[in-house]
Amino acid sequence: MSKTATLEINGQKHEFPLITGTENEVAIDIKTLRGATGGVTTIDPGYKNTGSCESGITFLNGEEGILRYRGYAIEDLADKADFLEVAYLLIFGELPTKVELEKFHADIKEESVVDDDIKKILDAFPKAAHPMGVLSSLTSALTAFNPSSVNVDSEEDMYKTVVKIMGKFPVLVAWAMRKKSGLPLNYGDDSLGYVENILKMMFGKPNGEYTQNKILVNALDKLLILHADHEQNCSTSTVRIVGSSHAGLFASLSAGISALWGPLHGGANQAVLEMLEAIKEDGGDTKKFMAKAKDKADPFRLMGFGHRVYKNFDPRAKIIKVAADEVLSDLGIEDPVLDIAKGLASEALSDEYFVKRKLYPNVDFYSGIIYRAMGIPVEMFTVMFALGRLPGWIAQWKEMRARKEPIGRPRQIYIGENHREFKTIDNR
Ligand code: ACO
Repeated sequence: MSKTATLEINGQKHEFPLITGTENEVAIDIKTLRGATGGVTTIDPGYKNTGSCESGITFLNGEEGILRYRGYAIEDLADKADFLEVAYLLIFGELPTKVELEKFHADIKEESVVDDDIKKILDAFPKAAHPMGVLSSLTSALTAFNPSSVNVDSEEDMYKTVVKIMGKFPVLVAWAMRKKSGLPLNYGDDSLGYVENILKMMFGKPNGEYTQNKILVNALDKLLILHADHEQNCSTSTVRIVGSSHAGLFASLSAGISALWGPLHGGANQAVLEMLEAIKEDGGDTKKFMAKAKDKADPFRLMGFGHRVYKNFDPRAKIIKVAADEVLSDLGIEDPVLDIAKGLASEALSDEYFVKRKLYPNVDFYSGIIYRAMGIPVEMFTVMFALGRLPGWIAQWKEMRARKEPIGRPRQIYIGENHREFKTIDNR
């Protein structure tokens, strides 16, 4: 293959190098485009064709349905590793040894307490506040309680910051839920595993022991692994771009949480359940809603179907569908909303409109189902996504700073008014 791409503008030819990734993805390196062409730029709203960085963290091939973290297949990680191992892998680049993992967990536990004044901030929120807004605010507030900035060139400093946020974030997640449910703000139990502890912090009642359910621990562990990174998606790009101004990690994460909140991104898992509830309220006619989704005059979309990069079955959805079936059958749950979900999935998978556009159920379709079965309130679903995505965001932020990437600052094509004479207020 040629090593350059030639661009001809007004009869003038310009050569740009091609770069090839380790999985043979090819990109035209246009870093010198504006200088070489006298100001010509590119336009690509939504960045469907634009690589924002070179990254060694996650490989994703949407056409073939492949997802790997640091070279390891998502199927192997979901089957053989736990969330903390995967977090370590993403952030530090290699699977931890037993000793490294134990130390990582012990260091996280040391940091699993937040300043008590955080409670005052949480207290000031109305109970009806969306927990994603609360989580974003509290993550940002952590900056105030941990003001020293990270020296990104110091491995030790970086490590300390990583364990700090890995320890404190689940507390904020659990408190965001407990605030909504009117439960007292508590801490977990250091003798438990990372995921077990999260469940205890979320569901533990002040008047009784919390009993762990292995099926739920396993399902949550898998969900967190599957959500842990997804290369340059909307929230991750946000974390990188905010961090590119050398804003701190916690501030960048807070921005990432806000980006994740939207229904076209992480908010889809909440939107899925709300859609299923609406279908149930309407009488449960899935065919009617399938027709609405296909009607171009109707803005309705089947939430939890389709994906920006997977134009094939989302590999995460395959894994999590099995976990969802396990949870539903083991817990013996009968729920008309979940029956509607099953009906919709099977109809869409054989419907020409969906098949032709390669619109398959995505991971959020099934994650919402599991969260509902676990008794997690709908508004917390996206918060659970954020909990899983935390190590990915950290890894991407760390990589961006280590590679000394320049500040993110896209160009635009101005389509507004040309220069106009200013009219004073009396003359308008
Ligand atoms: N229901 C009905 N039609 C759909 C859907 C859907 N969920 N998704 C896409 N389409 C149709 C579009 O109308 C379009 O049809 P056309 O070619 O006839 O115009 C075609 O499929 C392509 O759709 P785009 O919007 O161009 O696809 P894009 O890649 O930009 O969007 C997105 C992907 C945003 C995820 C979209 O599929 C969607 O809105 N899905 C529902 C929301 C959702 O589940 N989001 C979660 C994403 S996963 C995540 O964030 C972890």
